[in-house]
Amino acid sequence: MHPTSAHTPLATASAPPGPLRVLQAGAELFPLIKTGGLADVLGALPPALAALGHDLRLVLPGFAAVVDAVLHQRTVVELGALFGAARVTVRLGRLPFSHLSVYVVDAPLLYRRSGGPYQDADGHDWPDNLQRFALLGWVAAHLATGELDPAWQPQVLHAHDWHAALACTYLQAHASPVPRVFTIHNLAYQGLFPLSDFGLLGLGSRFLGASALEYHGQLSFMKGGLKHAHRITTVSPTYAREIATPEFGAGLDGVIRLRQADVGGILNGVDEAVWNPATDAALAQRYSAERLDGKAVCKAELQRSFGLEPRPEAPLFGVVSRLSAQKGLDLVLAAAPVALADGAQLVVQGSGERGLEQALLALAASFPGQVGVRVGYDEAGAHRLIAGADVVLVPSRFEPCGLTQLYALRYGSLPLVRRVGGLADTVVGADEHSLASGEATGIAFDEASPAALADALHRAVRLYRQAEVWRGLQRQAMSRRFSWAEAARAYEVLYRSMLATPV
Ligand code: ADP
Ligand code: GLC
Repeated sequence: MHPTSAHTPLATASAPPGPLRVLQAGAELFPLIKTGGLADVLGALPPALAALGHDLRLVLPGFAAVVDAVLHQRTVVELGALFGAARVTVRLGRLPFSHLSVYVVDAPLLYRRSGGPYQDADGHDWPDNLQRFALLGWVAAHLATGELDPAWQPQVLHAHDWHAALACTYLQAHASPVPRVFTIHNLAYQGLFPLSDFGLLGLGSRFLGASALEYHGQLSFMKGGLKHAHRITTVSPTYAREIATPEFGAGLDGVIRLRQADVGGILNGVDEAVWNPATDAALAQRYSAERLDGKAVCKAELQRSFGLEPRPEAPLFGVVSRLSAQKGLDLVLAAAPVALADGAQLVVQGSGERGLEQALLALAASFPGQVGVRVGYDEAGAHRLIAGADVVLVPSRFEPCGLTQLYALRYGSLPLVRRVGGLADTVVGADEHSLASGEATGIAFDEASPAALADALHRAVRLYRQAEVWRGLQRQAMSRRFSWAEAARAYEVLYRSMLATPV
């Protein structure tokens, strides 16, 4: 497991002081390419590390949105034909917003297509995802060894999710001593491919077995990260513990348990430049904890735009979510009628599984003026919904971190969450004790059942109708800060610890 080669001076006995050179690899980047929270993390964590003085670079697939946005691109290396692409060029440029340096893996045949980063417009996985993301991992690894860009060699490689996980495996194959961190954003998406495609990866046969990439008769990119990174992080401490159990381990809990000593959780943060109700240009009116009146304007505008009755006194529940089994929206469908009978309203913005889209639209049709559903992905709409709702529902079956509840806290829209993963770590559910101590920031429930959610919705409505108590909860919620600076310091400590002790 631990490479012994000492051909680079990077793995020294004591952690070098001063700035670190870190290469982060991933598939999404807000605001260029986003399907979920991974994009928000890659858009915020590298700049936060750079703000601490570190020399951060990113490596991203050359999706059209990336190639077209990155400034001052110059060719670092022409790689010719690789992973089925006729021509692969690695270019270095700067991100227009953060000015960070980014390596773009330009392979038009693999990445430049209309549709999503992982799926076509009809929601089918791209048939060549193995090649597309093996290439990302391969380039990240060879940047880390210094082979592709001799002018800049990182001291640490940090790969995110299965899309970049093979970077760890390729470095392992090279017996490279460059320390590598792998961050799991969601263990449920594993990058599984037919075992018969192993030959396309260009790895030796020792990487084929169950001690490496094989996972129940398939290839798992996620497993490459879990097996071949020196340290594994997840995006909340609770999820770091949960994934060692069969309930949350998505079949990989055994692999995680073997790496237990190297697994930890670092909470995500909120990018204040993007999510701050006092500066948010998407809102009908901006507001702050001191000047909450603007929030009522946002609520009225939300009710209007979703065709709801303009009732300022109605508790307004909101959901912004990928529509997938993870997010517990089946529970919302089952429990919502109880809260609606209580006089509440509900707005949902989401896209994903067709069945959930249809069921939500049917709910809206059954409760005209009381339920509004918008199927689709709309960044500004998400801001307006989170600002205008009184309560943001996140009843997930599992949640590695969750960002919408953090945004809800920041916007004084109380999160109602199931107590799992990052939701448990970031929201203090209102109960007798937390209300008395002033620590409560939301509403929480435990069991993944319609009855438990209905009970939580009912508690939320009761609290909402006590205006003074509600104000106090909002103030407390808005005072909570989940800062990227703090998360970046935790990653810095992790990086330095790896450099202090040869991995
Ligand atoms: P996940 O990554 O599992 O989807 P997170 O809560 O970490 O969950 O992040 C979700 C991100 O995607 C947030 O920035 C949220 O605002 C955004 N989002 C989800 N669905 C939509 C949508 N339909 N329209 C706009 N933004 C959305
Ligand atoms: C994943 C998780 C989510 C997390 C996000 C960013 O998509 O589902 O909980 O917040 O990654 O880390």
